[in-house]
Amino acid sequence: MADKKIIAVLGATGAQGGGLCRAILADSSGGFACRAITRDPSKDKAKALASQGAEVVKADLDDVESLKKAFAGAHGVFVVTNFWEHFSGEKEKAQAKNAADAARAAAVKHVIWSTLEDTRKLLPPGDQRMPMLQEKYRVPHFDAKAEADEYFAGLPLTKLLASFYWDNFYMFGLGPKKAEDGGYAWTLPMGNAKLAGIDADDIGAVAYGIFKAGDQYIGKTVGIMGEALTIEEMCRKIQSAYGLDSVRYNAVEPDAYRGFGFPGADELGNMFQIYRDFEKQVVGARSAEEARKLHPGLKSFDQFLAAKKDAVLSSMSS
Ligand SMILES: NC(=O)c1ccc[n+]([C@@H]2O[C@H](COP(=O)([O-])OP(=O)(O)OC[C@H]3O[C@@H](n4cnc5c(N)ncnc54)[C@H](OP(=O)(O)O)[C@@H]3O)[C@@H](O)[C@H]2O)c1
Repeated sequence: MADKKIIAVLGATGAQGGGLCRAILADSSGGFACRAITRDPSKDKAKALASQGAEVVKADLDDVESLKKAFAGAHGVFVVTNFWEHFSGEKEKAQAKNAADAARAAAVKHVIWSTLEDTRKLLPPGDQRMPMLQEKYRVPHFDAKAEADEYFAGLPLTKLLASFYWDNFYMFGLGPKKAEDGGYAWTLPMGNAKLAGIDADDIGAVAYGIFKAGDQYIGKTVGIMGEALTIEEMCRKIQSAYGLDSVRYNAVEPDAYRGFGFPGADELGNMFQIYRDFEKQVVGARSAEEARKLHPGLKSFDQFLAAKKDAVLSSMSS
């Protein structure tokens, strides 16, 4: 442990950081050690990481001093913020700034910041296609992360652009659901555009590949996906993977989706509309090839469906 390079991992009990911790811990001769950061070391996911060999450290993105202590002596830091805990672009920016300031204070050698693109660059300010949200954002969880990029200026930084987690089926209930006709229907405002998606576990594994590759990724932006598929294509794959009679795409317009009323419906309506109307830019900013180079075990959608069958099937029936 003492001679290993420590990677301090934010979001260690979550999808992205958890994948990174598991990748570090699975590679015992890789030369890296995992420092898993959580607000609550007594939670099961933190205890599980500790039992697998991680050093578990308590810190909070809202408390910069706690982050400075958590990053002290680390070689690298993985930063992810969780918009969906508070739904506020301003808070997400403040948390990212705390992480960047703490990484600077700890003089770490490599920071990976899990950011997203500024969707406002894709459509002019007066464009009426979709509403502005929180006064100044189109897709707050994208645009706020992009605004936060500036806080990391001057750090040895790799920006990581993840894509839509296929795990959102069971994490957010964002997949096909039982329909009245007895089959399954997936309601989305995606038209015929391809959705860049990924198995969430693979994001952290790619981040580990970036830390291992080191200097050559500093100053770069790495956009990753497992595969880009249309919703029709995904429905067909789900149907055939699980031997179901019918999984159909129920295409709706973004305005209708924004009006569904669940928390974040307006935000997700805008996000899917960006994916639909700017498919070339969004898919073009992400590469499965680059991701596979960094993580040879990167999963295709079929492999994801096989690996997470129970979770996906149960989310479709709930
Ligand atoms: N879902 C998608 O398709 C998708 C795609 C691209 C990007 N993203 C982005 O991914 C981010 C979420 O990452 P995730 O999915 O890996 O998270 P997640 O699985 O929802 O878990 C959230 C993690 O954030 C940590 N956390 C939250 N608030 C914290 C705080 N104040 N201080 C320290 N740690 C804190 C939690 O740690 P503790 O609770 O243990 O403290 C937990 O480990 C979001 O901002 C989202 O925009 C999502």
